[in-house]
Amino acid sequence: ANHLLGIEPLDRDEITTIIDLADSYAASNRRGNTRRDVLAGMTQINMFFENSTRTQSSFELAGKRLGADVLNMSMQTSSVKKGETLIDTALTLNAMRPDLLVVRHPHSGAVDLLAQKVDCAVLNAGDGKHEHPTQALLDALTIRRAKGRIEGLSVAICGDVTHSRVARSNILLLGKLGNRVRLVGPPTLIPGAFKDMGVEIYDDMRAGLQGADVVMMLRLQRERMDGGFIPSEREYYHRYGLDADKLSAAKTDAIVMHPGPMNRGVEIDGTIADDIHRSVIQAQVEMGVAVRMAAMDLLARNLRARRGSAAADGTM
Ligand code: CP
Repeated sequence: ANHLLGIEPLDRDEITTIIDLADSYAASNRRGNTRRDVLAGMTQINMFFENSTRTQSSFELAGKRLGADVLNMSMQTSSVKKGETLIDTALTLNAMRPDLLVVRHPHSGAVDLLAQKVDCAVLNAGDGKHEHPTQALLDALTIRRAKGRIEGLSVAICGDVTHSRVARSNILLLGKLGNRVRLVGPPTLIPGAFKDMGVEIYDDMRAGLQGADVVMMLRLQRERMDGGFIPSEREYYHRYGLDADKLSAAKTDAIVMHPGPMNRGVEIDGTIADDIHRSVIQAQVEMGVAVRMAAMDLLARNLRARRGSAAADGTM
């Protein structure tokens, strides 16, 4: 593929190729053997129109570990603040001949649109409520490392599904790899359209977690609830916050995940999040660097091949 815009266009083999390469990067990162030159001579620009801690820093670290020149655009101080559009901003940066453009944007579909306007590889770092493909890939690698496989598992995705690009990308990926996905949360936060994605839906948390291998918690995204239903934190925690009692419905060896940032005491109890026997939340962050290294490595190989054949054809 020329870009990584979502999980939807990927097939099972493409997903496995990325995860396998990421697994080997994770192993060498652990050994402290982090330097590579697969992106040497390439320029990576990170454009984050929404806040980020994990995704932006891990894309930056991944690019630097692979030898790229990495530029972090500060969107807060850019000419976007003077009214320059996303497309004009992208065309301006494209004229500087980057090889990889990493983009996060609050509007669903914005990254796809941008990818049509530029001639470098584009990676979606999260677009509105649409997709967050590298998050789903790092979640899959984390699950495979913890469970020894990433097929035939029962995965409960819990909480604010409506506003979650993480949920959407995970539902797509886990389904393609042959897992059973359940969505657990208040009906107001689980859109009916998700039923068409082959998932089971529960509004009772204990019923939804029954026998689950993986419990994936989601953040209550208040900033996207413009005027709609906003549950009180206390009531929400009581019914849908993951605590020891609700977790006991899942398998005894079930792992607990959260993409971050977490609202402790809202969707998850702090002691569960910190329980090193159940929680793989820090492993998710660690796998994030490896997955982004793998995704950029594979896109760079493709980019070099395309440029090589364009040069041979005389079209470049
Ligand atoms: N999981 C995730 O996307 O975190 P950030 O918003 O901190 O990047």
